[in-house]
Amino acid sequence: MRILVCGGAGFIGSHTCTVLAERGHELVIADSFVNSSPRVEGRLEAILGHAPACHRVDLLDRGAVAALFACERFDAVIHFAALKAVGESCERPLDYFDNNIAGTIHLLQAMRAAGVGRLVFSSSATVYGDPDTVPVCEDAALRVSNPYGRSKLVMEQLIGDLCTYDPGFQAVNLRYFNPVGAHPSGLIGEDPGGIPGNLMPYICQVAVGRRERLEVFGGDWPTVDGTGVRDYIHVMDLARAHADALDFLFRERRSATVNLGTGRGTSVLQLVRAFGRASGREIPHRIVARRAGDVAEVYADPSLARSLLGWQAELDIDAMCRDAWRWQSMNPDGYGDEPAAGTAAHATASRRVPDQVSEAIAGG
Ligand code: NAD
Ligand code: WQD
Repeated sequence: MRILVCGGAGFIGSHTCTVLAERGHELVIADSFVNSSPRVEGRLEAILGHAPACHRVDLLDRGAVAALFACERFDAVIHFAALKAVGESCERPLDYFDNNIAGTIHLLQAMRAAGVGRLVFSSSATVYGDPDTVPVCEDAALRVSNPYGRSKLVMEQLIGDLCTYDPGFQAVNLRYFNPVGAHPSGLIGEDPGGIPGNLMPYICQVAVGRRERLEVFGGDWPTVDGTGVRDYIHVMDLARAHADALDFLFRERRSATVNLGTGRGTSVLQLVRAFGRASGREIPHRIVARRAGDVAEVYADPSLARSLLGWQAELDIDAMCRDAWRWQSMNPDGYGDEPAAGTAAHATASRRVPDQVSEAIAGG
């Protein structure tokens, strides 16, 4: 099939491209590069043996999105394109609502106009907030606690309404838990701009010498060792789930919302120790105060993904650390170009770039 991968130059999108290509799909990436590097294209070419088609398109540019669908034929869309930094979303909520929600509406409009009715959407376990019980099932209460989470929930709801009222439209919402790790080649991986907000990239940067030590946010949580527990999932397992979700959509022609996690919780200190084993480096760390908005323990009940998609996670925490370290040690400065800004301010700036999609498409 011919798949449009919106946000395909990003962390999870680029890994998903490798799995889609291995399964024989033809890919077209559309990305504004607001939080990713154009160098991903060359890395994907090295992995795949051919360069995937890649267009610089900002989903906020409704005309550019329409032009893309007018010039290219797609069987389905995978939609990764969003801003995702929780802290930044609290500082700039409207930029998050605009980029994530308005961008999604433009994409859905273009899909509808072109008669493309199959979508795989990147949602997040953030929609569960602080769950009442773990493991978390898909029917748990939804309660978001920051504008980023709000944008994910609203997008899920908009997509859900479309599935309800348009018989030609089906979607799978994938609620990721904590994606980490990298492609086994070490050629692509997670390259956050600025100070990493997430645990694994922070540990990677400590291990490679870019940061002095990890601050562990809280040592008094009601967990196995007092530090926060999460469900880390290898990005290659996650990537495979997207290909399985496409198969589900074409096989069953119905919509679904599923958790993607391993079903196992790992504490911050357990992850630090596992990374130390994988890298052979000590990870200096100290316990500091809890981070605002954090919760003690979140991990998935992934059984629905197994029964609906035939998917389950295969790679363990040691593989996640080994592959994250291979990427970071082979690429100490990530993709090594301008820091991927990942900021809403940068998003605004990038929008000033004239519409390049028509030229890009016309230019082949
Ligand atoms: P990422 O920032 O690496 O990738 C997102 C990509 O989308 C980037 O390449 C960015 O340039 C692009 N993008 C953003 N806004 C765009 C726009 N308006 N037009 C075109 N391209 C745009 O993030 P990721 O970690 O790969 O996350 C992918 C998706 O998964 C996001 O929707 C995110 O919210 C969701 N998610 C991520 C995590 C996580 O921890 N990484 C967890 C749950 C859900
Ligand atoms: C994991 C654990 C921290 C950094 C976030 C988003 C969520 C989703 C995934 C997109 C927690 C601790 C962290 C550090 C630390 N993203 N930690 N020191 O908070 O579970 O989820 O990313 O959808 O929406 O909220 O992930 O990696 O930030 O934190 O001690 O420097 O590591 O307190 O216990 P989180 P995280």
